[in-house]
Amino acid sequence: MDYFEYRNGELFCEDVPVKTVAKKVGTPLYLYSYGTFERHFLVFDGAFRNIPHLACYSLKANSNGALVRTIAKLGGGADIVSGGELHRAIMGGIPARKIVYSGVGKSEQELRLAIEAGILMINIESEGEFLLLKKLSRKMRRKVPVSIRVNPEIDPKTHPYITTGLKKNKFGVLWSEASRLYREIAAEENLVPVGISSHIGSQILELGPFIEAVTSLRSMILELKEQGIAVEMLDIGGGLGITYKDEMPPRPDEYAGVVEDKLRDMGIRLILEPGRVLVGNSGIFVTKMLYVKRTQGKTFYIVDGAMNDLVRPSLYDAYHEIIPVVEAAGKTAAADIVGPICESGDFLAKDRQLAEVKEGDLLAVKSAGAYGFSMSSNYNSRMRAAEVLVRGSEFFVVRKRETLKDLTRGESIPSFLEV
Ligand code: LLP
Repeated sequence: MDYFEYRNGELFCEDVPVKTVAKKVGTPLYLYSYGTFERHFLVFDGAFRNIPHLACYSLKANSNGALVRTIAKLGGGADIVSGGELHRAIMGGIPARKIVYSGVGKSEQELRLAIEAGILMINIESEGEFLLLKKLSRKMRRKVPVSIRVNPEIDPKTHPYITTGLKKNKFGVLWSEASRLYREIAAEENLVPVGISSHIGSQILELGPFIEAVTSLRSMILELKEQGIAVEMLDIGGGLGITYKDEMPPRPDEYAGVVEDKLRDMGIRLILEPGRVLVGNSGIFVTKMLYVKRTQGKTFYIVDGAMNDLVRPSLYDAYHEIIPVVEAAGKTAAADIVGPICESGDFLAKDRQLAEVKEGDLLAVKSAGAYGFSMSSNYNSRMRAAEVLVRGSEFFVVRKRETLKDLTRGESIPSFLEV
């Protein structure tokens, strides 16, 4: 359910015509629907109303300040993976006590900042990180609430690049090692083992892998209890999939149902780290047709958006629905929708059936709210796109399009090259 729809043949985001925003702000641009994002959070969070829980929005999916602020306003927390995301979460108004920190390579400085801020839980992902935290907690004389991110060795049946809970993945700690680490943590005065965490992958479309993960985490919690280690929080990560094309992901209430089922008698506080399910279908990417190029037997629609703006098609072969902003009638034809970047891998879609569009027309790439802008870059010295948030009949630029000045900010010419 989202608030992007055609009205009289024209695409609207809530009550704002997409064309109006493109005209005002230019293209390419990301357009987010506040109402959709808010609704997704409330539905997801509400699905877990029967158990104590905290939904920590996964900032990596989209860390725009306006979205983070929305989550803060709705009472959600944040799942972060870097010092930068810690900064964004705090700037967005998320209380430190609602922030959880995962990540295989947290630096000493990042851990320090997290300890100073007093976040809810640091998810340890290796023995080395445990040793560093032990040292820091002593030096800083602070009690540090930690959990271990265990690798439950479960196949989430998703794209290999976004599978995280298999033995061959770099994430988490295998249970055999984790249970030993828990004992060491418990013996350490300043480290408090408050939780256990896992995240098995992203864009998961079946309940099975979640059930398996929670079942195995449940038995780990019980095993810890036997050893006198009572963790109070279970963090099951994110990963719930969304519809890009015709996928039928479990609904949040179905997901909540199976999780709740396994945890009812455990007296545990559930931590969730949803990213894509909240923001994926809350955003579109709007791009303009520059040229129609026909070569022998092939049509290319060359648009002003590229892989630096939205890398998912190039990187994961991901499918994003693409529709014209002004509904086009007539027959469809297959075309590759490609950007201006000097790489054959720069495409938004291949062999896509689209009603014939012409130069100057606008296209909307759907489901682009998650891992769209947050994965964008300046490759080919392209300036990153503007981001706009729509609420009802109003729209707000929540990130300006970058300028030429932004491109070279921070660079300097060494004196020997000065003319
Ligand atoms: N928690 C942890 C520890 C994670 O690693 C992730 C995502 C999440 C939560 C949020 O997962 P979500 O609910 O969004 O599935 N760039 C890829 C997705 C990478 C996901 C990485 N981890 C894509 O565009 O599909």
